[in-house]
Amino acid sequence: MYPHSPLAQQDRADLVNDRGLTLVGAKGTHARLALRVEGLSKCYGALNAVTGVSFEVRHGEIFGLLGLNGAGKTTLISMLAAERRPSSGDAVLLGLSIRKRRRTVRRMIGVAPQQIALYPMLTAAENLRFFGRIYGVKRAELESRVEELLDFTGLQDRRDDRVASFSGGMQRRLNLAIALVHRPRLILLDEPTAGVDPRSREEILKMVRRLRDDGNAILYTTHYLTEAEGLCDRLGILNQGRLVAVGSLEVLFANLESSEVIELRGLEGRFDLAPIRALGGVCRMVRGRGLVRLYVKRAADLLGPLQKIIMRDRSIRLKVAPLSLEDLFLHLTGSEIGE
Ligand SMILES: Nc1ncnc2c1ncn2[C@@H]1O[C@H](COP(=O)(O)OP(=O)(O)OP(=O)(O)O)[C@@H](O)[C@H]1O
Ligand SMILES: [Mg+2]
Repeated sequence: MYPHSPLAQQDRADLVNDRGLTLVGAKGTHARLALRVEGLSKCYGALNAVTGVSFEVRHGEIFGLLGLNGAGKTTLISMLAAERRPSSGDAVLLGLSIRKRRRTVRRMIGVAPQQIALYPMLTAAENLRFFGRIYGVKRAELESRVEELLDFTGLQDRRDDRVASFSGGMQRRLNLAIALVHRPRLILLDEPTAGVDPRSREEILKMVRRLRDDGNAILYTTHYLTEAEGLCDRLGILNQGRLVAVGSLEVLFANLESSEVIELRGLEGRFDLAPIRALGGVCRMVRGRGLVRLYVKRAADLLGPLQKIIMRDRSIRLKVAPLSLEDLFLHLTGSEIGE
């Protein structure tokens, strides 16, 4: 059976002409460093979508690329997947430059694109078989690989149903499985949980962790802060095409001047903040509607004097929390909170 829908992405379709390569265990896949990005940039006409981005991803690591809509995540992934040509810079994937070895890079890595790339009129098993052949998986191995991936994604009982009848979450899981059909050691996942419900999301995250625990290198883009916090070993924060911070959450937080947030809720609009400002020790103060957040080094040092100021108004509630990834993100991208 041959697919009769143009839905699959061009990059996957391009591989139809490139059959016959065995990928597993190819040279370079066991190096500790799986991906090195070196000053990568991409312009679309006058728009600088990605500017001078550099970072590294190791085997056995999930590297999260965090950014708002339009930050440049897909553009960056597309360059790494050798689908779009960089305007400048380079990246070395499993020892291969995306400038010099485009075709080989495409066969070596696994990519789950943001736009689901499946043939809706084929079944789950047929999609896996089709893409397996495209990626040059040997016939003898392909059937067992298809079964393995159907088990891995929990789609075994829907194996013979057309993808057109699948829920969004099931399509996402299959989209991810197809990226794995040739056992790549470096996997690029562009928002693999976009548009799925919390249960499917958890299942996908479990799959990604298992891939990491098997020693694969994973680049994972998302704009869900909580998802990145629970999943990623290291993070890069992309803002308007620039990587504004890279490191483990611990390192990123350690570089900030404040480490806790005191939140005051229930403030009336006319509440005078001047005495709080005068306290000292507040690195940054952000006011929303009925809410003030004080970014401080040590909340304990401020609580006594703060209580004295707010005790005049019994409706005010005070809460202390460690900095969240959201706080970090807002700080690094220069955004402000609002309510
Ligand atoms: N093919 C293209 N031609 C022109 N501009 C583009 C093209 N692709 C992306 N852009 C622009 O480049 C910028 C980055 O887009 P990109 O899709 O890489 O962001 P993103 O971080 O993946 O966003 P999202 O979270 O919405 O998927 C945006 O301003 C977008 O409009
Ligand atoms: Mg995108």
